[in-house]
Amino acid sequence: MAPPPGPLAISASPRVHALLARLHAASAAQEKSLSQVWFYLKRFITFYISSSAWGPAADDHMRDKFVALEEDKCHFVYLLARSSGALNIVEAGTSFGVSTIYLALAVGQNVADQKALGRTVNGKVIATEKEPTKAARAREHWAEAGDEVAGVIELREGDLLETLKRDDMPEQVDFLLLDIWTPMALPTLQIIKPRLKKGAIVLADNTKMARPLYAEYLDYIQNPANGFKTTEIPYSGGLQMSVYLPE
Ligand SMILES: C[S@@+](CC[C@H](N)C(=O)[O-])C[C@H]1O[C@@H](n2cnc3c(N)ncnc32)[C@H](O)[C@@H]1O
Repeated sequence: MAPPPGPLAISASPRVHALLARLHAASAAQEKSLSQVWFYLKRFITFYISSSAWGPAADDHMRDKFVALEEDKCHFVYLLARSSGALNIVEAGTSFGVSTIYLALAVGQNVADQKALGRTVNGKVIATEKEPTKAARAREHWAEAGDEVAGVIELREGDLLETLKRDDMPEQVDFLLLDIWTPMALPTLQIIKPRLKKGAIVLADNTKMARPLYAEYLDYIQNPANGFKTTEIPYSGGLQMSVYLPE
């Protein structure tokens, strides 16, 4: 029998593996529900009728939803963060903190690798969430995961258009995960771009499924003048992977 996919991809304690399996199952069940499928359909219809991509009613609907990055994408994100040795990661859109757990594991392990080589380094994941009830659930999950996860995360509560502009940002950002409502993708990238190191990785979720809603972001990231090399990875919904390589 094939081993479960989590331990094949991710180094983590049995407790964290069990937590991740539970959270992914809960998120997947919500996403499969009829009300959620109808919600996404309505969003597209509203966008085509009124060009409105998001609004307060959509926020209300999403307040008790995980909308977690799918497990296979989370494995990819973790492996990318490990292989690139990322130390400072920004996550735009944290919700109940599922993808953040993977990012935190990767950063913690990258820091440990550097320390084993005698280097003094720090690293963290800056997580962002504007909904207080979601932030509280995320903190509960990270506490359950334990210090290998919780100790690496700084959660900035509030609108990330404010919280990511604060002075106390890391000088250099190695990795940016954009798992946020589509109108926020480009504004977030523009805030973080001056801090991106050469070779930094930027991921944006669901770029194929929500292509019309991502039009501005994709125009920007695909314009060579803006300094990115980019491709879409054919995960469900599409995952746009870009690397910052300014001339
Ligand atoms: C797709 S979910 C994130 C899922 C999460 N990455 C995971 O895998 O578990 C997007 C989240 O972004 C949050 N969000 C939306 N606009 C925001 C803003 N302006 N500032 C901070 N968070 C925001 C939403 O409340 C929502 O919880």
